[in-house]
Amino acid sequence: MKRMLLWGLVAVSLSVGFTRRFDRDKVLHVKPQDESQVNFVKYLSSIVQLDFWRPDSAHAIVPQMDVDFRVGAYQTENIQTLLEQNGMQYEILFQNVQEGIEKQFDGKPNSSNRRHSYSKYNKWEKIVAWTANIAAKYPDLVSRTQIGTTTEERPMYLLKVGKGSVKKAIFIDCGIHAREWISPAFCQWFVNEATKTYGKNKLMTKLLNRLTFYVLPVLNIDGYVWTWTADRMWRKNRSNSSNTNCIGTDLNRNFDSAWCTIGSSDDSCSEIYCGPAAESEKETKAVANFIRHNIQSIKAYLSFHSYSQMLLYPYSYTYELAPTHDELNNVAKAAVDALSSLYSTKYKYGPSASTIYPTSGSSDDWAYDEGIKYSFTFELRDRGKYGFLLPENLIKPTCEETMLAVKNISSYILRYV
Ligand code: ARG
Ligand code: ZN
Repeated sequence: MKRMLLWGLVAVSLSVGFTRRFDRDKVLHVKPQDESQVNFVKYLSSIVQLDFWRPDSAHAIVPQMDVDFRVGAYQTENIQTLLEQNGMQYEILFQNVQEGIEKQFDGKPNSSNRRHSYSKYNKWEKIVAWTANIAAKYPDLVSRTQIGTTTEERPMYLLKVGKGSVKKAIFIDCGIHAREWISPAFCQWFVNEATKTYGKNKLMTKLLNRLTFYVLPVLNIDGYVWTWTADRMWRKNRSNSSNTNCIGTDLNRNFDSAWCTIGSSDDSCSEIYCGPAAESEKETKAVANFIRHNIQSIKAYLSFHSYSQMLLYPYSYTYELAPTHDELNNVAKAAVDALSSLYSTKYKYGPSASTIYPTSGSSDDWAYDEGIKYSFTFELRDRGKYGFLLPENLIKPTCEETMLAVKNISSYILRYV
């Protein structure tokens, strides 16, 4: 009886907008020097629930890797003592995650009636309204279609950006992972920049005259909404396709590319849960179907994540080099050079498996094997200072520099593909 009352309370508080708090949770950074230190971190994660920020789970850790994880307030003392006793250096990235969450927003706390802004984080309702508005404002450059609905029945709107009928196309998605807020911010920035500078900026005008950009501003909409309403640190989607007590599939492990083999988990409670089958999730299915239907025109696939500052290309499910590795490497290098020309932001680039960590079921590998030979994943800013909690004042510089990389890749497609 008491139990039922308690659950009732939980349900009510969730439905009236109970938001999880992270008071005095910490984010620690470690760099395991050798196998034994790696094993020690893995051991810690087996005795205490650690929320891995980078890499995405303990399994991916190898010596000399930068590892960031969040520790619950009540565990931090223990964990820090254990690290010290084992001679492991660590840095404290956040003393108080809740404070970090509040500080992302420029000054004022997250007030619910803010206007849509390209240099702020926008909640989903603002983003949907924006998709309609921008299409209405630039009818001959932007049109909006729906490619599916999410688990919670939200419409998945896709913006088609470009002059006239479909030409060679570039597909761009943001927000596969819910907590990586800088990613949807970039997709909005891109569409704004494209429409605003068309007819003014020579390169942009040419790109929009001769290419079509398909932009999916938030792929994992339900997850994104959840990060605004309930749990800022949510990563997966919100489906219960596993039929267990754990919610959510990692949509970047759910694509049909060596599905659920390496770097993913069949445990529904894991942050890298691959789902019950490849393309089991409505969000994955909608994207995969759209790309399959438009495979003749889509020449490039770009997916935006954070954080780490990397430009990745296939493969992720194997250490074998992609058949077009050398060309991908050249394109990535040129893009990264363009990006860093603005603020000297340093990006690593290379095949995902060896550059970040191996994963299977990821969208970029899938797109590549479908025949989209220019397939890239961006890991945007930063390299751990703020991690997922990148403050709003860094949206503008991050998006500006990323635009240079995207324009660079797009011009390559235009010229050579
Ligand atoms: N943060 C991304 C993830 O965990 C990185 C994926 C790297 N793999 C890739 N195929 N791009 O999903
Ligand atoms: Zn991600």
